[in-house]
Amino acid sequence: MLANRRITWIAAGLAALALAGCGKQEPVTATTAPAPPATARVLVVGTDAAYTPFESQNEKGEIAGFDIDVVKAIAGKAGFEVKFVNTPWEGIFNALDQGDRDLLVSAITITGERRQTMDFSKPYFEAKQLIAVRRDAQVATFDDVKAMKVGVQNGTTGDEVVGKLQGKSSGNIKRFESTPLALKELEAGGVQAVVADNGVVEHYLANNPGGGFKTVSDAAFPVEQYGIAVKKGNAELLARINKGLDDIKADGSYDKIYAAHFGSAPK
Ligand code: ARG
Repeated sequence: MLANRRITWIAAGLAALALAGCGKQEPVTATTAPAPPATARVLVVGTDAAYTPFESQNEKGEIAGFDIDVVKAIAGKAGFEVKFVNTPWEGIFNALDQGDRDLLVSAITITGERRQTMDFSKPYFEAKQLIAVRRDAQVATFDDVKAMKVGVQNGTTGDEVVGKLQGKSSGNIKRFESTPLALKELEAGGVQAVVADNGVVEHYLANNPGGGFKTVSDAAFPVEQYGIAVKKGNAELLARINKGLDDIKADGSYDKIYAAHFGSAPK
């Protein structure tokens, strides 16, 4: 392969010489092609696709959801191509740092701690934690789950708030690999509450009307902002993403995507 390429270049060089010899004023072409810019290749987007309606994977293996549509629209505006790769939440930030993923979209809350190790786009979605409990549970505020077994997705902001309430090392915090697994455990009775992002909890309840669950919100939960993450220092890609995000907000495509997934335009 390498040898072949070398032969091709030698041939090209000879051809150029021959042309020069013929007295034609053709410029001699460079013998080494410059490295393509990062955006000339398909960018790999990591997403933990077990987070409906933000990202999920269907039977055919296709990844779809609100986040996916947002990134596709941004890529369309910014002129780069993307490919989505299902990436478990637990290794997702590491995959970005190692360069195995170029960007991440995964309903990722922008936090001060995460900002230390990666860079975030401007916020593209607002969220809050929401508690899911059995309909007959005596839970009116977050404080009421203090002594309960609570399911969370490991390493999420839900894990963080419950850790603050109960103490990080509380044996009552059950940490799951994915949010659906935590919700399954609530169904099975292994935990008495689940704390996760409102959009996902609401979607789950709407699709399990017979599940016997209710949600409890608490004004004390901080407002969270989702951002698209890039490797720390990748200012070039970040600028493109931010510009693309501005563009899809300005031309109405963001609102269309929002309405398609959440039924109404954002407030
Ligand atoms: N917003 C929460 C966080 O950043 C949960 C995100 C989980 N996303 C996912 N695709 N599983 O911690």
